[in-house]
Amino acid sequence: SEELSLRPKMLKQYIGQHKAKDNLAIFIEAAKMRNEPLDHVLLYGPPGLGKTTMAQIIANEMGVQFKQTSGPAIERSGDLAAILSSLEVGDVLFIDEIHRLPRAVEEILYPAMEDFCLDIVIGQGSSARSVQLDLPPFTLVGATTRAGLLSAPLRDRFGVLSRLEFYEVVDLCAIVERTADIFQVQIEKVAAMEVARRSRGTPRIANRLLKRVRDISQVKGEPSISIQTTQQALKMLQVDQEGLDHIDHKLLLAIIDGFKGGPVGLDTIAASIGEESQTIEDVYEPYLLQQGFIQRTPRGRLVTSKAYAHFDREVPES
Ligand code: ADE
Repeated sequence: SEELSLRPKMLKQYIGQHKAKDNLAIFIEAAKMRNEPLDHVLLYGPPGLGKTTMAQIIANEMGVQFKQTSGPAIERSGDLAAILSSLEVGDVLFIDEIHRLPRAVEEILYPAMEDFCLDIVIGQGSSARSVQLDLPPFTLVGATTRAGLLSAPLRDRFGVLSRLEFYEVVDLCAIVERTADIFQVQIEKVAAMEVARRSRGTPRIANRLLKRVRDISQVKGEPSISIQTTQQALKMLQVDQEGLDHIDHKLLLAIIDGFKGGPVGLDTIAASIGEESQTIEDVYEPYLLQQGFIQRTPRGRLVTSKAYAHFDREVPES
């Protein structure tokens, strides 16, 4: 599908994330020279930055199979045992949201990662016995929003920790142009830049906005997506000049109007705007923090003068 083909297949097609990419390129090359599987890799960072794509690229670059599952999908240790025993030498097993693995399942993973050994219990009660099976050496690629969400024993078993960061606007612009190319539509450079600037450093958002901009441009019968259409589309989508959306606004205004700018606890904010604390922390806050609209203090979240200025508000006297 169009969606699948948007994902780059190899490192050289992957735009941005220069640090993560350069490091991985070396570790991959070295593992291939030694004819060994790549060490286990933990990819962490906010959603939409390309963790799944990077995991698939690792498998492609290593020339091995890619198998995918997620923390919440694995309910019992038997589920994980089944996946692990289906692996072949060198395969990449990708576990998304790995911090959500049940504890009992996580414990099966330790010897599997460390010694490529599967400890399972067969039978029940007095006839129960534990058996150990050898696994082929494989590479676990785990993904999570924050490395700190993993238990220390799990985190310690990854040889490579790679943090994905928000993208630079120039890199996002190149991604928008690449996607437009795959969609076989023309886009003005200034229009591509505008989508990039307002995508919160996130390719998933850039590609989503581009699709809506394309819709409007197509209905208008434009030969090339124009800056005017782009601005019109972003207005319709309630994406502001800085790329902040309706929920970002609710969040910032809740702190400004409801809590005198803070500091206020995350759970209090979450309750006041009707979002999950976890969603705020993992999806909305990281970009607002990175852009300096809010700060985290020991006493809670605080909006900055930049946030007041964004809404044309005066900073209150303290
Ligand atoms: N599409 C989405 N993310 C991408 C990236 N980092 N590089 C190239 N194409 C992409």
